[in-house]
Amino acid sequence: MVDLMVNGTRMSIETDADKPLLWVLREDLALLGPKYGCGVAQCGACRVLIDGESTPSCVTPVGSVAGASVVTVEGLAQANGALSALQQAWLDEQVPQCGFCQPGFIIAATALLEVSPRPTDADIDEAITNICRCGTYPRIRRAIHRAATMLAER
Ligand code: FES
Ligand code: FES
Repeated sequence: MVDLMVNGTRMSIETDADKPLLWVLREDLALLGPKYGCGVAQCGACRVLIDGESTPSCVTPVGSVAGASVVTVEGLAQANGALSALQQAWLDEQVPQCGFCQPGFIIAATALLEVSPRPTDADIDEAITNICRCGTYPRIRRAIHRAATMLAER
């Protein structure tokens, strides 16, 4: 049994403590936003926030984060359904192509804006190492700048 807070809800999960968090989220909690890409902490498709830090869930044993707050892309919108600034900017800039990698990018960008509210392109490239096979990087940068502006004007 592992205790976690997932997207704001406390829960005790009957699971093997060695099971990767990604598979606990996808298989046990039916949260399909985090994706399986490489399985070795390289592509970023599985990223979630763990206590606010963007973390590859594919290599994170669930037992190692017992008691932590985990946020997946499903948990970024407000309770009333209002999208986060980044989610809205992603739509406004029409970022996704196939979409597979996008939850991981939005999670990584969310963590970046927490520590760097007005990042430069260089900051973005340095902080976000996720891989997008469709090559959406220019639109991702534009969406992050747009979200940063939206947040600054609130
Ligand atoms: S699946 Fe976790 S980083 Fe690629
Ligand atoms: S949008 Fe297709 S892999 Fe990124």
